[in-house]
Amino acid sequence: MRVLGIETSCDETAASVVGLREGAAPEILSNVVLSQIEEHAAFGGVVPEIAARAHVEALDGIIEAALADADTRLADVDAVAATAGPGLVGGLIVGLMTAKAIAAASGKQLLAINHLEGHALTARLTDGLSFPYLLLLVSGGHTQIVLVRGVGDYQRWATTIDDALGEAFDKTAKMLGLAYPGGPNVEKAAAKGDPARFAFPRPMKGESRPDFSFSGLKTAVRQAATSIAPLSDQDVADICASFQSAVADALGDRVARALVRFREDYPDSEAPALVVAGGVAANRKIRSTLEELCASHGFRFVAPPHALCTDNAAMIAWAGIERLQAGLADPDAMDFVPRSRWPLDSVSAPVVGSGRRGAKA
Ligand code: KG4
Ligand code: ZN
Repeated sequence: MRVLGIETSCDETAASVVGLREGAAPEILSNVVLSQIEEHAAFGGVVPEIAARAHVEALDGIIEAALADADTRLADVDAVAATAGPGLVGGLIVGLMTAKAIAAASGKQLLAINHLEGHALTARLTDGLSFPYLLLLVSGGHTQIVLVRGVGDYQRWATTIDDALGEAFDKTAKMLGLAYPGGPNVEKAAAKGDPARFAFPRPMKGESRPDFSFSGLKTAVRQAATSIAPLSDQDVADICASFQSAVADALGDRVARALVRFREDYPDSEAPALVVAGGVAANRKIRSTLEELCASHGFRFVAPPHALCTDNAAMIAWAGIERLQAGLADPDAMDFVPRSRWPLDSVSAPVVGSGRRGAKA
């Protein structure tokens, strides 16, 4: 089985071919990602109209490149899977309409994929993980802990009540005059800073409600920066280090709670695992905090390679394969209308105030 995947929900234009052979591990035959960072850098964030236009311009070539890299003709593909939400609606329309056109013209099956499902199932593509497991998704648009029980069977255990974690990194960077995207630059500056200089709050730490919050921390950073302005390079480094350590601490507290709950809900699970996904998972301080936490709770820590943690189309193609295998492909996909909001778990109520951008996952 071979599936062509298309991803255009935010600022990456991506296409990929993933194959699965009977009795063998799945294979990523190609994985082409074009980042639009340069187009958006001047604005300090993703501009939806620019993103949609850039997808229109690039997508055909990216799909051609993905097929060529995989040495695959369209005729050899079994289905076309495209991200249909959640995300910036302009980009979603570009990707899904292109996929519909390809499917209609070639007579292939169409799969309308939830981007979050792509992130949720990646660890099965890379590590062959079996259900159930926990997913921590930390990106520019989402901060969630999700119980992954099966294909199409997800339960959100925690989400942010205000900013996403990547957003908090990006806003902190902007306040301190560091370039976009802020996360990597905050991490770089933090390496030279003193994490104990500023006692920033650890939002939600110790609370019985399972969710995340980062806006109070952002405010504390702003106050600290204003009170000692003008900032020297050392001040910036110290603020970044103190911010990062507050984030890791708060995140660790929330995740520890979920690990304990998983143990209670699945006492017989022999190899419980925590998977991380999203751009923030690249952060070394956060990674090492999670690694230690997993070790002390007897959990396996699974971090797919960086290129598969951030937005890509291999995860979309793979989610398509998983859906086909599980007999869960939607026969009405050709009528699917892109959804800018599309929770993985329709049971958990939306959290008021969450997802300011709501676009990235
Ligand atoms: O998953 P991603 O590439 O895109 C989406 O949000 O969908 O995540 C991007 C986010 C940005 O907010 C970026 O600042 C953050 O991930 N990020 C980091 C690091 N690398 C990227 N945050 C902290 N430390 C990093 N090393
Ligand atoms: Zn994403």
